[in-house]
Amino acid sequence: MSFTRRQILSGIAGIGVVGLAAGGARYWLARVAAPQTHDYELIAAPVDIELVAGHSTPAWGYGGQAPGVELRSRQGDWLRVRFINKLDEPTTIHWHGIRLPLEMDGVPYVSQLPVLPGEYFDYQFKTEDAGSFWYHPHLSSAEQLGRGLVGPLIVEEREPSGFQHERTLSLKTWHIDEEGAFTAFSVPREAAREGTRGRLSTINGVPAPTLELPAGQVVRLRVINLDNTVTYRLNMPGADVRIYALDGHPIEPRELGKEYWLGPGMRIDLALKVPEAGQELPLRNGPLRLATLRSIVSAEPAGNWPAALPRNPVPEPDLSKAETLSFKFEWAATLVNGPGRPSNYWQINGKAWDIQDKTCADRPIATLKKNGHYIFELRNMAQYLHPIHLHGMAFKVISSDRKKIIPYFTDTYLLGKNETARIALVADNPGVWMFHCHVIDHMETGLMAAIEVA
Ligand code: C2O
Ligand code: CU
Ligand code: CU
Repeated sequence: MSFTRRQILSGIAGIGVVGLAAGGARYWLARVAAPQTHDYELIAAPVDIELVAGHSTPAWGYGGQAPGVELRSRQGDWLRVRFINKLDEPTTIHWHGIRLPLEMDGVPYVSQLPVLPGEYFDYQFKTEDAGSFWYHPHLSSAEQLGRGLVGPLIVEEREPSGFQHERTLSLKTWHIDEEGAFTAFSVPREAAREGTRGRLSTINGVPAPTLELPAGQVVRLRVINLDNTVTYRLNMPGADVRIYALDGHPIEPRELGKEYWLGPGMRIDLALKVPEAGQELPLRNGPLRLATLRSIVSAEPAGNWPAALPRNPVPEPDLSKAETLSFKFEWAATLVNGPGRPSNYWQINGKAWDIQDKTCADRPIATLKKNGHYIFELRNMAQYLHPIHLHGMAFKVISSDRKKIIPYFTDTYLLGKNETARIALVADNPGVWMFHCHVIDHMETGLMAAIEVA
């Protein structure tokens, strides 16, 4: 494949402020149903942020903040992002969970060449699915995501969803010390286990924030895990809260229940019935408080639970004619590359991906027939969690040997300790698609492969 779209920044040098391109329109809830454009200029650049009071952290941000600015589109519309690289190193943007053409997928040497310092790249694609998604680079991921190059991408439903209020909650646990200085994003002995954890949990870049919500209203909480490593065990004791969508895709609304495990890369859309004014509810990770939700007086009449969100146009796999492929995710500590090369601790079906080898994608681990129906059997041979993610297509989770599954569409399945799960898909998007664990340490030490649809 030849790569042509990457361009040198010349005519638009001097743009310093991030915002919308001329003619772009940002829309909000309750907008009029008129044709809209969603045009952005998005700059990646260093930005100092204050995560620890009184100390500055030398983050890298999108749009002058980390996590990055929230991009919004609407189902069926085009999203156009002129991405400008003002970092000192190459990068790309991958649109996590968005079904799009390969040239827009942001994988270096597979979809495009890296965007070099001072260059720009125009990403443009139609957002066919509504839901909560996110964006991040797909190279030097431990450091680039670790420093803050992660941001939410919200695609609103074509018709108003019935939610009058919403908040986006981006979860990230920063690799910083007590003075805000970065610590190692990847430590080999951790990479070979659960992945290297950060120390400071934040929501939208704030440790343990208090969020004010209107009393009596139903508020949509778009919770996005854009962390490198942490699986958040989300719970909200005492709250009247329901799940409306998983990883962007609507489900039949149900109670949140005791706890939901949100692995790296995953999203959950919750609807919270906000209690009467003056009350506080915790949003927690296991026993740890991530945020306090405080209800404040609202003049609006009490809200009701919206209907289920309309399903996205994902093709339905036909299990009766599907071919089954099996993928084993294994720990493989014996596999070590030469001096100066990253270690490989993980492999899929006996093969480890080498992030320094630009030709890995030439050797796909599986080739699917275009529009063929497939079942993937995913087997975790180890005791660590692997949020298994596929680019380019959504898949349906159909069964697990560890828990009861109500089938649902997603782009990331959190494969538990020694679990075997089955997922199914229609291979309707031609290209070479990355298939990897979203624990960044695992992905960068072998747990990645390419799947070709031809
Ligand atoms: Cu969040 Cu390869 O992606
Ligand atoms: Cu992705
Ligand atoms: Cu993993």
